Amino acid sequence: MFDKKTLHGKTAVITGGGSGLGLAMAEMFATLGARVIICGRTEEKLKKAVLSIKEKAASANDDVEIPEPDWFSVDVRDYEAVELMANEIEKRYGLPDILVNNAAGNFLSASENLSKNAFKTIVDIVLHGTFNCTRIFGSKWIEAGKAASVLNIVTTYTESGSSFVLPSACAKAGVYAMTNSLAYEWATYNIRLNSIAPGPFPTEGAWSRLLPDEKMEKSYLKMIPAGRYGRHEELANLAVFLVSDLSPYITGECVTIDGGERLKSGQFNFITQMAERPQLKQFFSMMKPSRK
Ligand code: HXC
Repeated sequence: MFDKKTLHGKTAVITGGGSGLGLAMAEMFATLGARVIICGRTEEKLKKAVLSIKEKAASANDDVEIPEPDWFSVDVRDYEAVELMANEIEKRYGLPDILVNNAAGNFLSASENLSKNAFKTIVDIVLHGTFNCTRIFGSKWIEAGKAASVLNIVTTYTESGSSFVLPSACAKAGVYAMTNSLAYEWATYNIRLNSIAPGPFPTEGAWSRLLPDEKMEKSYLKMIPAGRYGRHEELANLAVFLVSDLSPYITGECVTIDGGERLKSGQFNFITQMAERPQLKQFFSMMKPSRK
């Protein structure tokens, strides 16, 4: 889809890059020439992810050398740890060009049963984690006069809210506000901030916590007009476009990628669930008044 050198010469930091969508983006970025630096909490996972990134990038580029990916075991909730990581990245590779705030936490719970710590934990990972990374790299970019691009992963319920994921809904709404606030404030420094709101993309992390049984997954699928879940490379392609020099004039934009799921509230959309399309068409034609 992209020129092989779309991200050539770029360094990208991806939080939560050891698995799921973070890893999918890391693999795609590396395949397109970027030096990828992933961070997360679990060392084992990160080490495995780096091997996979190297393998994917090498198999897509037998003629071009891909910069060695790197990893940091860091919890984005810990401001000082993020600062240490940023200093070390700067020392090893110079300032990155791209930051993807992807690390997240979520689970299903009736909101009246949430403990104070449960709410705080998700807000800490999602909202504070995004702030920590953006604040730390942002000030470095501004001081150095370096152009950069930030991509924040939000959700399709950022604006609508959603039952049973209250901490995530509140935290992601904050991230959405942060993206737009800084897109305006930092445009003068040539720092772009955009977000992606993914609908359902199967990952071990999200699926095991949010759609743990087959029955749930099947009823969820019915709500997606495209009739399928998202593919990781579809999201990764969108991420490449937004973080790269292909979109230098796009900032403060949130792109939803959800197979149309967010439009489910359309008043007559329920009809799609009543019968197969040929039967519906027959039904509509029966309703049509005949012209005399
Ligand atoms: C109620 C829960 C809970 C649950 C944890 N808690 N899970 N409460 N129901 N299912 C409570 C705990 O009891 C504790 O409160 C507090 O939350 C912190 O839990 P810990 O396990 O100590 O925290 P920690 O080890 O930091 O783990 C964080 C985590 C965990 C978020 C809870 O699930 C995690 O590490 N997740 C990372 C991956 C992830 O969640 N991926 C999904 C993202 S998908 P007390 O009061 O007992 O101390 C996503 C996209 C959404 O966000 C869109 C998809 C369609």
